[in-house]
Parts: sequence; structure tokens; C-alpha cells
Amino acid sequence: LENGVARTPPMGWNSWNTFGCNINEALIRQMADAIVSSGMRDLGYQYVVVDDCWFNPNRDSAGNLQGDPTRFPSGMKALGDYIHGKGLKFGIYQVPVDKTCAQYFGGYPGATGSRGHEVQDARQFAAWGVDFLKYDWCSPEGTINDQVATFAKMRDALAATGRPIVFSINPNSIHAKTGPQRNWGDVANMWRTTEDITNAWNTGQTNGYPMGIQNIINVTVPLASYARPGAFNDPDMMEVGRGGMTDTEMRSHFAMWAMMASPLIAGNDIRSMDAATQTILKNQNLIAINQDPLGLQGVQVSNDGTRRVLAKKLADGDVAVALFNQGSATTTVSITAPAIGMSPGTLTLRDAWTNGTSTTTTGTISASVPSHGTVVYRVSGPGSTPPPTTTPPPTPPSP
Ligand code: GLA
Repeated sequence: LENGVARTPPMGWNSWNTFGCNINEALIRQMADAIVSSGMRDLGYQYVVVDDCWFNPNRDSAGNLQGDPTRFPSGMKALGDYIHGKGLKFGIYQVPVDKTCAQYFGGYPGATGSRGHEVQDARQFAAWGVDFLKYDWCSPEGTINDQVATFAKMRDALAATGRPIVFSINPNSIHAKTGPQRNWGDVANMWRTTEDITNAWNTGQTNGYPMGIQNIINVTVPLASYARPGAFNDPDMMEVGRGGMTDTEMRSHFAMWAMMASPLIAGNDIRSMDAATQTILKNQNLIAINQDPLGLQGVQVSNDGTRRVLAKKLADGDVAVALFNQGSATTTVSITAPAIGMSPGTLTLRDAWTNGTSTTTTGTISASVPSHGTVVYRVSGPGSTPPPTTTPPPTPPSP
């Protein structure tokens, strides 16, 4: 969507994966504080997204949405101000139709959807300082045409506010089980590609609820051609740091989200991250690959069912290559230079997980990869400009 925002995949944090409906303003403020103190803000994580269950079930006498008076007693504008005061951006959840997902599945009271109130609600969000709207079609009713028309109404209402707001949609229900039924890049900045994620490597489901990391990768990889600046496939908020997986699997999860130009929206408790979680979420090499200005999603260049290779072209001429082992034993994963679009010659490989070390090859690009592991190389070759390896000296003060 050409609305000036999300020129690279949005990065931030969302309350749902860890907290579900157990949210309140103190918690969201603590999380904003932790995004700053952990150093994540300065690495690009900026949207703090309040997911479902922030609502007062009743609109006010003028028909405006309101925050829950017990959980958000200071109001949503005050929360937005707090988040902005930390140098971060404010995201919020709403549904178009009828009930929120927590109302459907948990009986939690929620406000009425925005369908028919688009202009009023978009103005309300803008007045609160909202920078990111997650708009979730949870209703089981509706056709794809209803969805397009309904999402487009909110797209236009947000644009009419004049405030830059990332528009994140979830077509949900039947429409996102095996991949979205259309390319939503004309409607939204990001769109969910699958059912909800869970903190498991493989749930065995390719079209069920919830879905593990491997299952979501399977659905999202073939959608690479949809991604471009302003428009990204969204394989859901991350499960890094949420248990349920080995560190190797969590590293693959993050590496593949980075390669797929996926929004990097953390879903863990930022206040209490172990060292492994921090190392993963703060990997600057993978963040740079994800945030590359070309905005391209890595394309699959080889897959034998066990060994899968993705290549992502980068703005400086380098190519990021992910050597992914889906199998149950360590194996060597290889690819040739021409297969990733590079001329043969001496290639420099920088391993994204071992910052700074590089090797050269004149033949294949290959690595021994543990089960469920992913090795990512930033590959420079003839014709590509290698990134600087040392920090430039500080600029002397002007006379
Ligand atoms: C749906 C969405 C989730 C989350 C919940 C909230 O399931 O897919 O990401 O927003 O609703 O109820």
C-alpha cells in the first residue's frame, strides 16, 4: 500500500502471544520501557501494539470507541503519549465486523466493530496518536469480496485522517488457512498469511489452528512475489523467547522471518528475556537483511524436502542466503553462485550468527547445518560492494 509507511517491514512488539486478554496500561508502559532499556528500540523495534481486549464494550454517547475504564483508566490517548515519549510508536487492535476474536472464542466483552463507523473510528485512532492499526476479520461470515470492500473502507478512512498509520490486516477464517486468497498489497501494508502462530516448531498442520513455525514457513515462502516496500506478507507475531522450541529452532524462526521480509513483531515478555532470546532478537546482521531498502522477500532457490535454500537480493548488491535444514539430522546444505543470481568468482561469506567472521569461496556456498537449523550468509561477490568492516573514525569537531 502506497501510504508512505512500512517502506521496510514494521518492527515492534505485540501483547497477544504472551498476555492474551491480561493487559492493562501499566503492563504496556513497562513493555515500552523495556523495549528502550533492552536496546531493542535503537535496533528498530518501534511499534508497541496493544492487541485485543483493550475495549470498553460500550461506545460513548457520541458513538466513539473507548478504552476499558479499569484496565486503561488514563485513557488511550495518555497511553499513546507515554509510548511516544519513549521514542516509540503506538499500535492498536480493532475488528471490522461484529466481534473480536476474544469475544468469539473467550466470551470477553468487546466493542462493536468499525464497519459502518470507519470514518469516526479512524479519526478517533488518529486523535489518540495511533500509528499502527491491526484490523482483524474474526467473523466467520463474509466472502472475499466483502473483505476487500470492508478493508478498503478502513484503508481510505485512515488515509483521510492525514496521519501516517500502518494498516495491518488479518483476513482470517477460511481466507488465511492455506495462504491469502489474493495479494493484499493494494489494501494493506501487511496481511496475515496463516492462522495463528504457536510456540512449537511443527504442529503438523498446514491449514489448521494454531500453526507451528515450520508450517507457517511452508505457506509463506511461495508468496515471495507479493512483498515490496509498503506491502509485506505477515506470518504473525514471533514466538522467539516463548519456550516450546530449542534455541536452534528459535534462531531458524528469526532467520526465516528476516529472510521472508516479514514484520519483526516480538511476542515475548521483553521485561524478562534470557541471553539466548536477546541474542536472537537483537541480531543486527539479520535485522539489516530484513530491513534492506529493496523490500524484497527471499525467494526459494532450492528445496529437496530436507534442505531448503532462500536467497534475498540486497540493495548494495549482496545476496543474503539462508541454508535451512528441515530434517532430523545434521546435513550439509549447498547452493551455487549462479543459483542465487551472482557471477562465479571469489565470494565473501559473512555468517549472520558469528558477527564479523567471513570466509571466501570460489565454488559452492555451503555449510553443515544442524537439524532444524539455519545458517545465513551475507554473500558479496564480483560487482557487489562489501559493507564496511570497521567503524569509521569519528568526525572531528568543526573549527
Ligand atoms: C486473532 C488474531 C490474533 C489475535 C487474536 C485476538 O486470533 O489472529 O493475532 O489478535 O485474534 O483475539
